[in-house]
Amino acid sequence: MSTGAEVAPGLWADVDAYIDGLFVPPDPALDAALEASDAAGLPRIAISPSQGKLLHLLARLGGARRILEIGTLGGYSAIWLARALPPGGVVITLEADPKHAQVARANIEHAGLAAVVEVRLGLAQKTLPLLAREGAGPFDLVFIDADKHGYPDYLRWSLELTKPGSLIIADNVVRHGLVLDAASDDADIQGLRRFNEMLASEPRLTATVLQTVGVKQHDGFAFALVTA
Ligand code: SAH
Ligand code: DHB
Ligand code: MG
Repeated sequence: MSTGAEVAPGLWADVDAYIDGLFVPPDPALDAALEASDAAGLPRIAISPSQGKLLHLLARLGGARRILEIGTLGGYSAIWLARALPPGGVVITLEADPKHAQVARANIEHAGLAAVVEVRLGLAQKTLPLLAREGAGPFDLVFIDADKHGYPDYLRWSLELTKPGSLIIADNVVRHGLVLDAASDDADIQGLRRFNEMLASEPRLTATVLQTVGVKQHDGFAFALVTA
C-alpha cells in the first residue's frame, strides 16, 4: 500500500504557513505554550494553528459551554477551545502524563484561562468513568486526541457524557492512509479503524471524516453529531 507522505509535505507546510499568515496572527499565549512545550521536551504533536482555529470556530458555532478534551499534551488545543467558551463555560481536559499535565497547567495559567480549564491527571480509562459517576456531563463538545488504540473506548464514554446536539471531534483518524490497512498489526491503527467503523454504524451519531494535509502531513478529523 502506498502512503502519501512522500508526495508534497513541503508544499503542504508552505500552504499551512500561508493560511496561518492570513488567519492566525501571532498570539503570545499560544506561541508561548508551544515554546514551553518544546523546552520541556514534549513531542511536537499538538494540532496545527489552523486546526486550532477550526476547533475554536466549531465550539463557538455550537455555543459549547461544557467541553471535554481527552489528551491534553501542553494545553495548546485546550487554550483554543477555552477561548471559545461563553461566560460560565468550562473545559475539562484529561491527561495521563504528569509532566504533560504540569506543562499544560502552566501554559493555561499563562493564557489567563486557569479559572475555566481543569486539567485532570490520570489515564482517561479511569478518569472518564469518574466523570460519568460524578455527573460532570453532559458535554456540548468532546475532542478525542489521546492514545489511538483507546479511541473506541473514548467514543463509548463520549456517548455517555453527551446529549443530542453535542459534537464529538477526533484527531488523527487517517494516519497517512494507514487506516486503509485492515491487516495492520499496529494497535493504534486497529483502534482507529474500529473507531471509524463505530462512528459509521452508531445509530445515535451522524458523522463524517475529513482528510487533511499540512504541517501534520496527511491525516484527518472525524466529526460526529449526537442525534439521540
Ligand atoms: N490535544 C493536544 C495533543 C494531545 S497529544 C493538542 O493538540 O494540543 C496526546 C496526549 O494524550 C499526550 O499528552 C499523551 O500523554 C496523552 N495520553 C496518551 N494516552 C492517554 C490516556 N490513556 N489517558 C489520558 N491521556 C493519554
Ligand atoms: C501524532 C500526532 C497526533 O496528532 C497525535 O495526537 C499523536 C501522535 C504523531 O504524529 O505521531
Ligand atoms: Mg492528535
